[in-house]
Amino acid sequence: MRTFEHIAAIRAFVKAAHQDNKSIGFVPTMGALHEGHLTLLRKARGECDVVVASIFVNPTQFARGEDFDRYPREILRDSKLAQQADVDALFVPLAQDIYPKGFSTVVDLPNLANRWEGEVRRGHFQGVATVCTKLFNIVQPDRAYFGQKDYQQLKIIERVVADLNMPLTIMAVPTVREPDGVAMSSRNAYLSPSERKAATVLYRALKAAEERFDEGERNGARLQSAMTDVIKGESAASLDYAVVVDLETLDRVETVDKRAVALIAARIGHTRLIDNTVLGVFTRTDSAAMRSVATVDSRRTPLL
Ligand code: PAJ
Repeated sequence: MRTFEHIAAIRAFVKAAHQDNKSIGFVPTMGALHEGHLTLLRKARGECDVVVASIFVNPTQFARGEDFDRYPREILRDSKLAQQADVDALFVPLAQDIYPKGFSTVVDLPNLANRWEGEVRRGHFQGVATVCTKLFNIVQPDRAYFGQKDYQQLKIIERVVADLNMPLTIMAVPTVREPDGVAMSSRNAYLSPSERKAATVLYRALKAAEERFDEGERNGARLQSAMTDVIKGESAASLDYAVVVDLETLDRVETVDKRAVALIAARIGHTRLIDNTVLGVFTRTDSAAMRSVATVDSRRTPLL
């Protein structure tokens, strides 16, 4: 594995790969790699000739008062993990190269970026959309891999790529979970042991919505209540939102008459966690059978 800090150097690497007619798979991350990230890397490895990963804790996607300063930075460990995942090139850019003095262009999608997660974290998705646009311009991948765990982010990036005619395909990868259902996240490291136990409440709430859905409930508001009731039962958790929304527009749905996604965000102590599940994938029998074996949601939630 080669590691690059400088934009010109990774550009030269990518150019050579393109000249050899090699396909490039790209996995952007903020580091503190876990099994979720590694699953994206493996998927890219299986589908592309050359795999590029990036690690950049992007300052512009953290609102003031958020955890930018204490976000886990473990570059030596991450570098080893990336190497073990057979990554060809690790791009670890410097903040001053990504945001040089005078930087002033922002990629914004007001309709998608200012709601749900974006309403609580003002400016977050503008930061994400801008840095991903920059990273795509630098790495010029054929495919870029994103996790369904960050559903709104995934939809925003798909939109950016379509709207700005970027010549790449976004590949969605199902959420990877701990055995107790908690979605893997770099932020889980902030949780105390008791908070970590309480964190299962997001998954439990999503399961409650799935169960109600499988029983035939199609009313969006009642599916949402199923989630909020579970959250209310966990004293360590405070809910930001639990909604059932359209897969693409992220508008709230009154009646789930086609596939929809349940989005949830809650704070456990000082740690904000998000999760989601797609409703309406399998029949009741299928999903019951699948759930009994699944810790990875791919069984219930095929790639979108
Ligand atoms: P980060 O949180 O490091 O996540 C990098 C990628 O890993 C994202 O596509 C995310 O959805 C995916 N991911 C994280 N946890 C996952 C899980 N449990 N299962 C499956 N995929 C998972 O998301 C970001 O970084 C940043 O916003 C970034 C896109 C890099 C832009 O700065």
